[in-house]
This record gives sequence, structure tokens and C-alpha cells, in this order.
Amino acid sequence: MPDMLSLSGDRGPLFKKQVGPSEDEQNGLITGIRRDSTMKSAKIISFSPTGTTRRVLEGIAQGLAAQTVEHLDLTPARARTGTIRELDRSLALIGTPVYAGRVPIQAAEALSTIKTAGAPAILVVVYGNRAYEDALLELKGIVEEVGFRPLAGAAFVGEHSYSTETIPIAAGRPDKEDIEKARSFGGLVREMLQKRGSLREVPALDVPGNFPYRDRVSLGTSLESGNDLCVRCGKCGEVCPQEAITVGEDGIATDRGKCILCCACVKTCTTGARRLTHAKIPQYLQMVAALCRDRKEPEFFFPK
Ligand SMILES: Cc1cc2nc3c(=O)[nH]c(=O)nc-3n(C[C@H](O)[C@H](O)[C@H](O)COP(=O)(O)O)c2cc1C
Ligand code: SF4
Ligand code: SF4
Repeated sequence: MPDMLSLSGDRGPLFKKQVGPSEDEQNGLITGIRRDSTMKSAKIISFSPTGTTRRVLEGIAQGLAAQTVEHLDLTPARARTGTIRELDRSLALIGTPVYAGRVPIQAAEALSTIKTAGAPAILVVVYGNRAYEDALLELKGIVEEVGFRPLAGAAFVGEHSYSTETIPIAAGRPDKEDIEKARSFGGLVREMLQKRGSLREVPALDVPGNFPYRDRVSLGTSLESGNDLCVRCGKCGEVCPQEAITVGEDGIATDRGKCILCCACVKTCTTGARRLTHAKIPQYLQMVAALCRDRKEPEFFFPK
């Protein structure tokens, strides 16, 4: 791959001609690793309504020490139109949150519209300290289907979307320690790529999970924001990944058919006006908090 040898600086083009691609490179093997052992480019591909998945991926990208990091953010509805996207073969860091032990359906659909001819991929799921169940295996299946070559995987913990001050669940995560581990994971991936020399030498990746995947669960939705605390700032509408919120003079309207209960609006509202009001929520949160009490740590998966 000529891309691998396009060393920056004034010797660039000449140097490229003199050295020429190695046999491995011509075969289109590891892309984006420069000869001086630094990663040339990486692409973060994420769905992350409350931002924890994105922060973990950024930490991993730092550990990879890629020179350039592009970001394909599949969170906003406008980025998920169904149009096919052809990606080049630079390393992709692909991450989604875990919803009921699965990849959120919106993320799964958006990832399915990508096409690539064998771009290497690092797979990451971020969960709220309960469990990630089949999500990492499902993510692997989705990206393989569209042509990626999974090289490594990880499960990280992020503050639970439903965490509140009164019922905190994994509050503040990913914290400093998690981000440090994300950087280490990126560094380990870089080392693995340098050591192996070509993608052909990287064995197939195994990650935990069961197939058939567990059933998707929907909580239904009930959100409130029409109370006195609302200042009609519109921030909830701006962050809603489903374009489910309309802020008007008469108040805030939520399209319940579109809402996925991701809590981006709740976490963004600084006045406390936006909150979950589903009758079952307090009971559900107590149950989740009880299941999530013990701190879980990030897990890494590499080919054996
Ligand atoms: C609808 C929904 C379902 C969830 N299901 C799980 C789950 O099964 N296990 C878990 O540990 N966390 C679960 N969570 C918590 C999220 O996985 C976690 O908060 C994650 O960090 C959110 O990622 P984001 O910040 O990128 O949106 C769920 C959150 C939502 C909104
Ligand atoms: S973010 Fe909060 S205060 Fe602002 S419009 Fe939405 S509910 Fe109202
Ligand atoms: S309205 Fe629903 S989908 Fe939109 S941000 Fe709020 S919880 Fe998420």
C-alpha cells in the first residue's frame, strides 16, 4: 500500500519512489503503520448519545499514537440516513454503548451502511457496569458483514445513562483510571500490529457472547420537561440523536415513537427540567444500581 510509505516531510515523494512498497504492503496488509513505528491514520466510528463511548475511543486513539484521527460520528440522526459509505483501509476504532446486552439498533443499522474492502478494526463496547452480554460479539458480526477485519476488542465501563445524583450508577466513568487503560489498550494494539507485520499473520479474533443474541428489550418511554425549571434553551433538542424533541413556545414536545431513552437530553439539561418520569423507573434504577454496585474493570481481547 503506497499509503504506508507516504512519509511526511520534504523527502516524501522521492523517498516513496526509492523504497517502493514491500511485498506485504503490495498485498494490502497492515495499513497505516509507518516504518518509523508510528500509526499514520485512524478513524473513530462511534454511536454515543451520552459521550462515554466517544471518550473511551479517544483515549484508545491517543494510545495508538496515530498522526491523524478522523471521526465518523453516527450519533446524530442526520448521520444515519442509510446512504452507503465506502471507507478506505485505514485502521477503524468502532465503538457503541450496550443497550440491554446488545448493540443499539440505531448503531447496528448505521454500521451496516458502511462498505470497506478489509479495513482493520478495533471493536469497543461501553456498558454501565452491569453487563455487556452479547454486544461485543454482535458488533464483531456487524462489522465483519460489511468488510472490516476485526483485530482486537474491548469492553469498557461508562456512567450508566440512567445514573442520577440520588441513584448513581458507575458515576463519572470512564474516569482517569479507565482512560489510562484505554490508552494502554491502544498501545497494545499498536505493538501487536508492529510485531505481526502483516494482517495475514493476525489470527481470527474471539470475543465473549452468545449467538443467537439475546432478545432486544424496550423500556418504553416517558420523559418530562414541561415544568417550571425549563428555560426553553433548546439544548435537549440539539443533542437528541433521534430528533425526537421539539422546543416550541408552548413547551417541549417529545415524539415517543422516536425516543430510544438514551438520556442524552436528561444529561444535557443543566436546570434539571428534563427527567425520566416512567412509573417503573425508580424501581428499575434501584435494581440496576444493586446489580452494578461492584466496580467492573475494562477487558481486552486479542487474537491468540
Ligand atoms: C436503553 C439502554 C439500555 C442499557 N442497557 C445496558 C445494559 O444492558 N448493561 C449495562 O451495563 N449498561 C446498559 N446501559 C448503560 C449504557 O450502556 C452506558 O451508560 C453507556 O456508557 C452509554 O454510552 P454512551 O455514553 O456512549 O451513550 C443502557 C443504557 C440505555 C440507554
Ligand atoms: S435542556 Fe432543559 S431547560 Fe433547556 S429546553 Fe430542554 S428541558 Fe428545557
Ligand atoms: S428524547 Fe429520547 S432519544 Fe432524544 S435525547 Fe431524550 S432520551 Fe434520547
